Amino acid sequence: MPEPVFDLEAVIKRRGFLWRSFDIYGGAAGFYDYGPLGTAMKNNIVRVWRRYFVQREGFAEIETPNIMPEEVFRASGHLDKFNDVMLECSKCHEVFRAEHVINEGYLEITEEINVGSLALEDIGDLITAKGVQCPMCKGEFRPPYEFNLMFSTTIGRNKTGYLQPETAQGIFLNFQSLYSYFRGKMPFGVAQIGKGFRNEVSPRQGVIRLREFNMAEAEVFINPEERHYKGFDKVKDTNFTLLDQHGALHYLTADEAVAEGVIRHQALAYFMALTQGFLIEIGIDEERLRFRQHEKDEMAHYARDCWDAEVLIEINKKESWIECVGIANRSCYDLEQHMKTTGADLRAFERFEEPIEQEVERLKPDLRLLGRTYRNDAPKVREYLGSLSPPFPGRITMELNGGTVEIPKEFYTIEKRVEKVSGRRYIPAVIEPSFGIDRILYAILQHSFHVGKAREGVDSESYTILKLKPEIAPFKAAVFPLFNRAGMSELAKRVYDSLVETEMQVTLDDSGSIGKRYARQDEVGTPYCITVDHQSLEDKTVTIRDRDSTEQVRIRAEKVPEIIHLLVSGGIEFEELRNPESGGSD
Ligand code: ATP
Ligand code: GLY
Repeated sequence: MPEPVFDLEAVIKRRGFLWRSFDIYGGAAGFYDYGPLGTAMKNNIVRVWRRYFVQREGFAEIETPNIMPEEVFRASGHLDKFNDVMLECSKCHEVFRAEHVINEGYLEITEEINVGSLALEDIGDLITAKGVQCPMCKGEFRPPYEFNLMFSTTIGRNKTGYLQPETAQGIFLNFQSLYSYFRGKMPFGVAQIGKGFRNEVSPRQGVIRLREFNMAEAEVFINPEERHYKGFDKVKDTNFTLLDQHGALHYLTADEAVAEGVIRHQALAYFMALTQGFLIEIGIDEERLRFRQHEKDEMAHYARDCWDAEVLIEINKKESWIECVGIANRSCYDLEQHMKTTGADLRAFERFEEPIEQEVERLKPDLRLLGRTYRNDAPKVREYLGSLSPPFPGRITMELNGGTVEIPKEFYTIEKRVEKVSGRRYIPAVIEPSFGIDRILYAILQHSFHVGKAREGVDSESYTILKLKPEIAPFKAAVFPLFNRAGMSELAKRVYDSLVETEMQVTLDDSGSIGKRYARQDEVGTPYCITVDHQSLEDKTVTIRDRDSTEQVRIRAEKVPEIIHLLVSGGIEFEELRNPESGGSD
C-alpha cells in the first residue's frame, strides 16, 4: 500500500521542491514554481529523457517559439477544437469542467461517462435530468458551453497570437528543413522540450493540472504504408498492462499486443515500451503504471489512436489513475493541414526499386500568358510549374526576385501523361510520445516516499525517506565534517570540491548532529552521505553511507568522486564497496 502523502506535501514545500507561484500575492491556481531541489530534479528527469528519446534514437532536438500566430492554430485545428465543456453556476458564478462535475462524485452514477462523446445539449440534459447542482453553493447550472483552452495574446500592435498548448506544432512547421537535415531518410524523429500553456478552468489538482507546464515531446515521422518500425525487435518482449478502449484489461508482451491487434501499430508499441522503460528507470513504481487506450470519441482532434501511460497516485485524498504521457498516432493530420493552408510541400519521397510507367498529372503552363505577364521570368515560372507533382495545393506560390508571388489558376491546366516515375511523394504519418514532466516528477515523489522508524539517533515519531533513484535525486551526495573542527572542515571542503569539479550535484552540511544531517538528506532523497571524522585526519579515509540500508563503508577520500560516479551510474553496487578492490578502505 502506498504511504500517506500528507507528509510529502509538507516536505515538497519546506525543502524547496515546489512552491505555489505568486504566493505573497495570494497565489493563482494552476501555477507552480520549482524551488532549487525541484529544479535540480526536473533537470535530471529531462537529462534521462534526452538519453532515451533523442540520443539513443538518433533523433534531433529543436527549439521553437512559445507564441505563434493565429493562422498556425487555425490550421492545426486547435482554434476550433481545443475546447473543454464548461458549466457555470447561475448563483455563485463558479465555473467547472463538465467532465469533473459528471465524473467526480457529484452525480450519482456508477460508470464513468465519456463526456467527450456527448453533444453540448446531451450534457445539459444529463445535468438537468440528474438535478445536479453547484458543489459550492447548490445553485443551478447554466447550459453548458465550450471554452477554448489557449491563451491569446497580441503580436506587435494588432496581430492575434496564442501561447502554444503543445510543443509539437513548432516541429511540424519545420518539416521541410528537418527532412533535408535528415537528408531525406525516413523514418526520422524530432524532439522538443518546452512549455505548454493551457488556460485550464478552475484547476484544483496542484501540479497535475497546471496552466503553464513542462512538456517533452517527440514527433516521429513514418511512412503511413509501413507497418514495421525499426528496432521493434529490441522491445518485443516488454510486458505491458493494457486497458483497451473497450475497457478490457490485457497483460501482453509488445509482440503479442501487436499480433493480436490490441496495439494497432508497431511504432506505437515501440514508443510505449520505451516510455515504460524510461518511467521505471526514473522511479515510477511498475505496479502503479498502466497504459490506457483512449476511447474513440475521447481522442484529441488530431489523433487516430492514443495510449496514455497512467500512474496511480493520490490526489485530493483519493487514489486516481492520472495520465502522465500520451502516445498518439496523429496520422498525416498535422502536415496535411499545414500543407493545405500554406501551400508548402510537406511531403517525403519514396524511391521505387525500379522506375515504373505510370499515368501522372502535371501542370501544363499557358506559355503565352506566362510570357506576357512574367516576361524574362517566364522560364523560371514554367520550370517551377513543371516541377510540381500531385496533390497540387489550392494556391500555387513561388519565390521570385526576392518576394513570394501567387501563380493564378488561369495560367495553367492539369493534364494527364504517361511517364516513367522513379518514386512517389507522400505525406508522412506521425507517432508522438508526449510527456508531461510535472506530473511525472510529482508521481515519482509519491512513489518514492516512505515513512519509516527513526534512525541514527533522531528521536521523532516518523522518519521520512525519499527513495529517489540516484540519477534523479537533486543531490547525489552530501559531505559532512563530523565536527566543525580544524582539519575536518578543510578535508570535507576538499572532498566536496573534488565532487563539484566532476560536475556532480552535491551539498556540504556542517550544522546540527550527524543524525539530523542524515535525516535531512534522507528526506530529500540524497543516496550517499560522506562523513569526514577523526580517523579521516589520520588516514585520509571517509565513511560513505547508503541511504536505503544505512550501511556505512570506509573509502579513501581521493576515491570519492570516482566511487560516487560509479554508484550513481550503476557501474557498481554499494555492497561491492566492502571489497577493497573497488576502492574501499584498505
Ligand atoms: P488531461 O486529459 O489530463 O487534460 P490531456 O489528454 O489533455 O490531459 P495531452 O494533451 O495528451 O494531455 O498532453 C500531454 C501530456 O502533457 C499529458 O500526458 C500530461 O502529462 C501533460 N499535461 C497536459 N495538460 C496538463 C496540465 N494542465 N498540467 C500539467 N500537465 C499537463
Ligand atoms: N502534443 C500532444 C498534446 O498536446 O496533446
